[in-house]
Amino acid sequence: AFEPKRIVVTGGCGFIGSNFVRWVARERPGVHVTVLDKLTYAGNPENIAGLDPERVELVVGDICDAALVDRLVSGADAVVHYAAESHNDNSIADPAPFVRTNVEGTFTLIEACRRHGVRYHHVSTDEVYGDLALDDPARFTEETPYHPSSPYSSTKAASDMLVRAWVRTYGLRATISNCSNNYGPYQHPEKFIPRQITNILDGVRPRLYGDGRNVRDWIHTEDHSSAVWTILTRGRIGETYLIGADGERSNIDVLRAILRAMRRPEDDFDWVRDRPGHDRRYAIDPTKLRRELGWEPAHTDFAAGLERTIAWYRDHEPWWRPAKEATEKKYRTMEYR
Ligand code: NAD
Ligand code: DAU
Repeated sequence: AFEPKRIVVTGGCGFIGSNFVRWVARERPGVHVTVLDKLTYAGNPENIAGLDPERVELVVGDICDAALVDRLVSGADAVVHYAAESHNDNSIADPAPFVRTNVEGTFTLIEACRRHGVRYHHVSTDEVYGDLALDDPARFTEETPYHPSSPYSSTKAASDMLVRAWVRTYGLRATISNCSNNYGPYQHPEKFIPRQITNILDGVRPRLYGDGRNVRDWIHTEDHSSAVWTILTRGRIGETYLIGADGERSNIDVLRAILRAMRRPEDDFDWVRDRPGHDRRYAIDPTKLRRELGWEPAHTDFAAGLERTIAWYRDHEPWWRPAKEATEKKYRTMEYR
């Protein structure tokens, strides 16, 4: 196995990146982490506060800054790339930063990794495969053709393609993972689950897009972290691994579960206009990762994970309050919401 000692984690102040940094700090005490994060609206240094400064260092900067990236990559033995513009609704309102950060940012990182011969892991999404019909028995596999729907997912697909080409043409030592919908602590209140939890805490009715039957395949962010570490250290170079934990659920079921857990009537929400181009269903077949690398998810009780997530938001109002105000202001300018 490859055991890196010094890693650069981009986007380590965002939701999934910060959960990964805290996972590494807890589970791999011998590893030094340099977080590179621009601290956009989605990045918050509080997400990695309290970790040993000898082991986790934050560099505030842009992944498109080639000189900075070159310097950081030259001192590392691996890069784990989480930084992105990540929210579909924002990408519909203003796609420009998605092209820059997701495509140009990835290009900048893999060029630096190529120059310095550094191992690279690319964190991507199941949305690159487009969507499945509700009644389709199929799930996404590593062989499913790319068919992205939104500005967000098309820029993630483009970044995956760059990585594949750099592997083949330059021999970049890279792996790619495409994961399904994450939930857990530190998720920005623009996303579905935290938006509805914080709405309910504020006495505001949750908002369900379209007919609410869209299906997402939920995985706890801790399981995403353990999967990425497994692929980074034991994955085969040049390979793609799909990460999922058999968590398919319709949005309306998730919303009703939140309402029940928060002691609200199950119909205490508003139907709102649908997201344009809204993907119907995502579903991951994680067989390759489980069989080849022996990875198993640990947080498969969704109701329990949701309860803990709700408790976390209840206990962390000062963390989400400023982001909540800014997010709901942004949503009020969108045509659907
Ligand atoms: P997030 O929006 O919560 O965090 C993104 C982080 O990247 C923030 O800290 C932000 O400041 C930073 N960032 C943005 N632009 C940057 C730039 N130009 N330079 C440096 N830093 C920059 O995102 P997330 O939900 O944690 O997603 C992290 C990654 O995981 C993304 O690549 C996303 O595509 C992927 N992913 C997300 C999910 C999900 O369910 N949220 C599922 C699969 C894959
Ligand atoms: O599948 C992985 C992807 O999951 C990641 O690549 C993305 O970064 C991440 O944002 C997420 O994308 P989604 O679009 O699936 O997540 P979001 O939380 O925005 O929405 C989840 C579902 O809930 C989706 O069907 C839209 C719906 N929704 C969302 C919001 C914010 C609502 O019904 N109401 C809402 O208020």
